[in-house]
Amino acid sequence: MSREPRVRMYRTALVTGASSGIGRGLSAWLARRGVKVFGAARRMEELEALARELQGQGEIVPVRMDVANAQETREAIRAIDEQCGGLELVVANAAVAPETPGDALDWSALEQILDVNVRGAAATLSAVADRMVSRGAGHLVGMSSLSDVRGMPHNGAYSASKAFLSTFLEGLRVDLAPRGVKVTTIRPGFVKTPGTEGNHFKMPFLLELDDAVDRIGRALLRGVSEHSFPWQAATAARLFQVIPNGLWDRAARGFDPERE
Ligand SMILES: NC(=O)c1ccc[n+]([C@@H]2O[C@H](COP(=O)([O-])OP(=O)(O)OC[C@H]3O[C@@H](n4cnc5c(N)ncnc54)[C@H](OP(=O)(O)O)[C@@H]3O)[C@@H](O)[C@H]2O)c1
Repeated sequence: MSREPRVRMYRTALVTGASSGIGRGLSAWLARRGVKVFGAARRMEELEALARELQGQGEIVPVRMDVANAQETREAIRAIDEQCGGLELVVANAAVAPETPGDALDWSALEQILDVNVRGAAATLSAVADRMVSRGAGHLVGMSSLSDVRGMPHNGAYSASKAFLSTFLEGLRVDLAPRGVKVTTIRPGFVKTPGTEGNHFKMPFLLELDDAVDRIGRALLRGVSEHSFPWQAATAARLFQVIPNGLWDRAARGFDPERE
């Protein structure tokens, strides 16, 4: 008996952060399955290279977009929605993760996280939510993280941005399900991408990019409310969430022995 997910394929999708890592991989995964993907990011040359790479296998339309500009992002996504006859899938994937150590807080890093991960994701998800509701169909997806459960050491602002995204998506999910619009929260553990290349701390249960992308793509097709993976890291995250602060603080300091 095949374990393939029940396929509910899309005609059109928009993915932010399509120039690198998970967003790039997911855009290609969808395009290869016949979805016309509007791949958005700031680096057009990377998006154009991806579109060229996929020629003959699938369609990626490169879109220059800086999600830190919330107003422009909303307008651009609404214009694409109109032009393509309605976006069926919107994935808020773009994010940044500069460290924000509490003892050397840099406002520009904090501001970047708030602008891209919080305001940018909210702008992306809200852009066509009203139109999906009018159409009684659509799928909104946010690329959150297992780090949404706790303020991770030196990365408190990043964790907080993902907590915002996960909680926001949960509220949307409850509101939109009766209106025919699906909402999915993706919560990966560590994945090998250009974004994690420079990490100096340990990354347990690190996944290869292709593996992670395949898990995400299949979760979207199943239309699940949340997909947290790999299970070992998801189990650890659940545990972290419930342990008392004293225990958490000691455990968290041990994540990065180089800094002790
Ligand atoms: N990799 C992991 O271990 C991991 C784990 C959990 C969650 N995640 C989440 O997965 C998503 C992708 O992560 P990744 O590791 O693939 O990251 P990545 O390789 O660093 O790629 C980040 C993407 O975001 C885009 N981006 C950044 N700022 C932007 C802006 N202002 N406007 C538009 N696009 C912007 C970048 O494109 P441009 O620079 O071209 O604009 C790039 O395409 C993120 O939401 C991340 O938080 C990753």
